[in-house]
Amino acid sequence: MAKVCVDEVIRFTSDCFKALGVNAKAACQQAEMLYQADRIGYYSHGLHRLEYYVNDIKTGACQPNNEPKVEKETTSTAWVNANNAFGSTAAHFCLDLAIEKAKNSGVGWVSAKGCNHYGIGGHWAMLAAKQGFVAFAFSNSSPLLAPTRSKKPALGTNPIAFVAPGCNNEYFYLDFATTAVSVGKVALYARKGLRLPDGWALGPDGKVTNDAQVAMKTRSLMPLGGTEQSSGYKGYGIAAMVEILCGMTAGSNYGHHIRSWSLSKKSSGPSNLGQTFIVMDPNQFAPGFKERVSESLNYWRKMEPVNPKLPVIAPGDMERIVGERTDREGTITYVKRILDVSKKIAKELNVEPIQELRIEPRHKGRK
Ligand SMILES: NC(=O)c1ccc[n+]([C@@H]2O[C@H](COP(=O)([O-])OP(=O)(O)OC[C@H]3O[C@@H](n4cnc5c(N)ncnc54)[C@H](O)[C@@H]3O)[C@@H](O)[C@H]2O)c1
Repeated sequence: MAKVCVDEVIRFTSDCFKALGVNAKAACQQAEMLYQADRIGYYSHGLHRLEYYVNDIKTGACQPNNEPKVEKETTSTAWVNANNAFGSTAAHFCLDLAIEKAKNSGVGWVSAKGCNHYGIGGHWAMLAAKQGFVAFAFSNSSPLLAPTRSKKPALGTNPIAFVAPGCNNEYFYLDFATTAVSVGKVALYARKGLRLPDGWALGPDGKVTNDAQVAMKTRSLMPLGGTEQSSGYKGYGIAAMVEILCGMTAGSNYGHHIRSWSLSKKSSGPSNLGQTFIVMDPNQFAPGFKERVSESLNYWRKMEPVNPKLPVIAPGDMERIVGERTDREGTITYVKRILDVSKKIAKELNVEPIQELRIEPRHKGRK
């Protein structure tokens, strides 16, 4: 493991995009998107993903200098064509539009087709919440979720992010995939040789597997909730709901029509994802919204825990603690595998390699 200064993470990532001909604004926004995931401990969605974005540009699957455009709009809604631009370019465009509409009419609902992967959904919902709004960000994604009773996947991990502001810069921050776990977590178990708990993944016969290596081959994840007996059908339904709000509303690819995202040198074509951003102004409803959010967050945190070593936390507490630590220390600790891939990318693109600070073998990241 090694530490890297946060400025260096952003310098390196944006340099890689610029070396591929991406304009400075789009390169910096995409670099910031990746950094924000690492900043709060979601290493599966940060620098680790750089090679996927680089590959999509190289194969022509993504046109990072494109700009989104509005296809149709009302005072509170907009249908956007993201035009295969970078995920962050489209997300900023849609979110700004939804915020503008929420300022004018209390609510802004923007659905976009032609999108690319936008990293952690919570980053986008948080940008609106920091301006006092309540926000949802939804995205569809490549099929990995097997509907309850099915042998094979047909829906994506379709994440939901929901952020609501409380008082004094605190937030209810909920951001999760609608599968029981992410494929990144299964990969981690496979690397460590650990057995998977029940309810995470299916084997080739469609039955629950505890073998992480098998699960990495089938790439067939169970919905949030796991098996039918443990109410996994609710997760299946929620993932399908996200798909209806995203791909089906925006007219992008949806469900089983979405490509699988790989590092293949042969382009699998544009991802044409669907994404939806909903922004609401709580001031248009009952007074005291932020106070009630904060009062509840603090009530939950003070509840008596089952295990005194594991206090009750509110959604978003872990991300806030890790983010504040990153801000304080000004560094991010990466495992060797991520740094090695970064060095390979630097060589390929003729970019100055990421500068490591020092080896820190005892530090452990959250994910
Ligand atoms: N763009 C995409 O296509 C895509 C697809 C899948 C996932 N993702 C992203 O991956 C990230 C990780 O998703 P995940 O499903 O692995 O998340 P996860 O299972 O780690 O759940 C995270 C959420 O649960 C909350 N949480 C965790 N432990 C808690 C506890 N004990 N008490 C209260 N709240 C708690 C966190 O604050 C956070 O809101 C998300 O940011 C998601 O947006 C993106």
